[in-house]
Amino acid sequence: MTREELRDKLIEEAWEGRKNSYSPYSNFAVGAAVMGADGVIYRGCNIENVSYGLTVCGERNAVFNMVVHGCRTFTALAVVSAGSADAAPCGACRQVLAEFCESLDTPVYICGGEGGVLETTVGEMMPYPFLKFDTEK
Ligand code: THU
Repeated sequence: MTREELRDKLIEEAWEGRKNSYSPYSNFAVGAAVMGADGVIYRGCNIENVSYGLTVCGERNAVFNMVVHGCRTFTALAVVSAGSADAAPCGACRQVLAEFCESLDTPVYICGGEGGVLETTVGEMMPYPFLKFDTEK
């Protein structure tokens, strides 16, 4: 699969993941999909709670879904919402992405549903991350 084919496939999978969003409080549905290093695509969606702070974003749920299935590295991520292309992963998600990405060059595709796709990387979104490595020094 070419890089472009993988991007398009992940975006498609993220839209599928978004269908399961549980977001009755914000009405802002988010879907995400990661390509695992095992070759499997894992989906996620945001899951809210009446105790608002317990909400977990779509990106983290996609990564956690991958880890639950025994894979600890993703090689690309897509996140979709009906907002603008600037609806980018929050800070907490960026920290989790840094933990499980293949490298800081791992591509991230942010799609707002208005046709545009913002292409970036985990490292661009999360410069100077705090990593496992830092605690092992
Ligand atoms: N949300 C995500 O799922 N991902 C993001 O990148 C930003 C925000 C969710 C959290 C909450 O359910 C809703 O969007 C509104 O903030």
